[in-house]
Amino acid sequence: MSLLEENQSTDLEKMVGLSRRGFISAGALCGAAMFLGGNLLSRSVLAASVSAGNSSLLGFDSIPAATSDVISLPKGYKSSVLISWGQPLSKNGPAFDPSGNGSAAAQEVQFGDNNDGMSLFAFPDDKNRALMAINNEYTNYRYLYPHGGMPQSAEEVRKALACEGVSVIEVQRKSGQWQFVQGSRYNRRIHGNSPLRIGGPAAGHELLKTSADPSGKKVLGTFQNCANGKTPWGTYLTCEENFTDCFGSSNAELKFDAAQKRYGVVATSKEINWHPHDPRFDMAKNPNELNRHGWVVEIDPFDPQSTPVKRTALGRFKHENAALAETADGHAVVYMGDDERGEFIYKFVSRDKINHRNAKANRDILDHGTLYVAKFDAGDSNPDHPKGQGQWIELSHGKNGIDASSGFADQAEVLIHARLAASVVGATRMDRPEWIVVSPKDGQVYCTLTNNAKRGEDGQPVGGPNPREKNVYGQILRWRTDRDDHGSNTFAWDLFVVAGNPGVHAGTPKGGSSNITPQNMFNSPDGLGFDDAGRLWILTDGDSSNAGDFAGMGNNQMLCADPVTGEIRRFMVGPIGCEVTGISFSPDQKTLFVGIQHPGENGGSTFPEHLPNGKPRSSVMAISREDGGIVGA
Ligand code: FEO
Ligand code: CA
Ligand code: CA
Repeated sequence: MSLLEENQSTDLEKMVGLSRRGFISAGALCGAAMFLGGNLLSRSVLAASVSAGNSSLLGFDSIPAATSDVISLPKGYKSSVLISWGQPLSKNGPAFDPSGNGSAAAQEVQFGDNNDGMSLFAFPDDKNRALMAINNEYTNYRYLYPHGGMPQSAEEVRKALACEGVSVIEVQRKSGQWQFVQGSRYNRRIHGNSPLRIGGPAAGHELLKTSADPSGKKVLGTFQNCANGKTPWGTYLTCEENFTDCFGSSNAELKFDAAQKRYGVVATSKEINWHPHDPRFDMAKNPNELNRHGWVVEIDPFDPQSTPVKRTALGRFKHENAALAETADGHAVVYMGDDERGEFIYKFVSRDKINHRNAKANRDILDHGTLYVAKFDAGDSNPDHPKGQGQWIELSHGKNGIDASSGFADQAEVLIHARLAASVVGATRMDRPEWIVVSPKDGQVYCTLTNNAKRGEDGQPVGGPNPREKNVYGQILRWRTDRDDHGSNTFAWDLFVVAGNPGVHAGTPKGGSSNITPQNMFNSPDGLGFDDAGRLWILTDGDSSNAGDFAGMGNNQMLCADPVTGEIRRFMVGPIGCEVTGISFSPDQKTLFVGIQHPGENGGSTFPEHLPNGKPRSSVMAISREDGGIVGA
């Protein structure tokens, strides 16, 4: 069934000004059709009527869903590849080898795989130069090795580790087009075997010591780097997400303790399988190595010699991103989501104030502060637009029942086992918190809750900001702190959008909220980004089967919302099998950088080169207007 056929009844509702959130009966629909002239109601008229929104912030027409292997954009926009997996960073570096036979050493000096969150750092004295720090989240064995399967040697594990971490690259604008600068002295890889330092309250703790590092302060690598943050003092934050997937056990009978279980480690690593070839990832041999990952890592992109630091004060969990804000009295705030079904949303507030005159004075500001976790009330249960109140609860040893009696010897253990501490204080179990962003216009905070097929089971109550049982579509949560101060520990929340499929399901809960239409529907919101004008960009990592509950939604995509009116338009559709993730803007807002991750995850794509039998390659795209205007305006 085509998209328009499926969605016609909903179009009718819009044509006659009826709210889908209301009660629309079959009789009313029939009457509307008769009023409008039945068959005279052409599909093209319907489509045009819906695309004409009234937001003055959004200056483009929503585009249709698509299932092709290209980037689809509104009329008047173009895209180009900024950089792709495997591109050499230095002048004479090893070229990408599509055969899969390239070495680990080569990959360590090439752009990493599966790019995700990224930030752009402008040169203060040259508007045509910038650095970009770009996460490389994981790799796809299907394309990494000639055999296309699990790693079979230490060298192959090293190659996989080399795909992950962070790539720092210089970009320059030439003839109006931003381009990667191969050979820049700033180009750098930080990968799964790079030397890093551990900072903050957990540094040197017994639980972080290993035979290779008796100090508990030096660690090899950052990996599973999902999304990111950019600090006001010019550093990059990269967030370690699915780190437990990288560990396994050579002893299949190994018993895991409660904390190890809560973080999800299992003996048989089903997808990554490094432990048979690198004992660092073998829980039977190096159990504390697990505790040295799952942190937020701070990187100074302008100092290629600097050692990245894991900031343990921000807590250990499956970090999605890190959204920076500032309290009314000048302290740094970092909002963070833990992306797992039923896990939590956190806030860190620095002990010290940000020094806006001397960036280097903030070098270790993230090592000292207070971690909080969010608790939401049940709200008003409005099915279209629920709202309510919430609070931040402190996760400090000796407070709120977090002490030896609940299993925490000291603050370092609270941070290492942040999930367990958050459970002690009764935090709200969320529908997989992904990205968090702060509006540059009014300071409201937005967080994607991507989906949670287990909502309603496993002690996860339906209600509040998680209003749907077996939630396959996701929603975007928003909160406004009291007094508009990020230092306040109380806030009002609402759901900005409840995603759904009005082409398949009429009304709530599965049809989505009233700002979801057959023309803009999507599932599994994940990445988020604000531009300077306050447009909210929404990136999806969802089911792109285009069938069943997801019929008519097409490939993963990027949408753009007006936060005031709630209107959402589809701006971009990605190629086959991709996730759209990672967003950044040029300082003049005329180029939007967006990540295309794992195109052809399950085959079927040759994006972006489209060579015969070519391999798909994760890439960062630069999107701009043909007339050189501001993107989205
Ligand atoms: Fe890496 Fe939760 O996404
Ligand atoms: Ca994500
Ligand atoms: Ca996701």
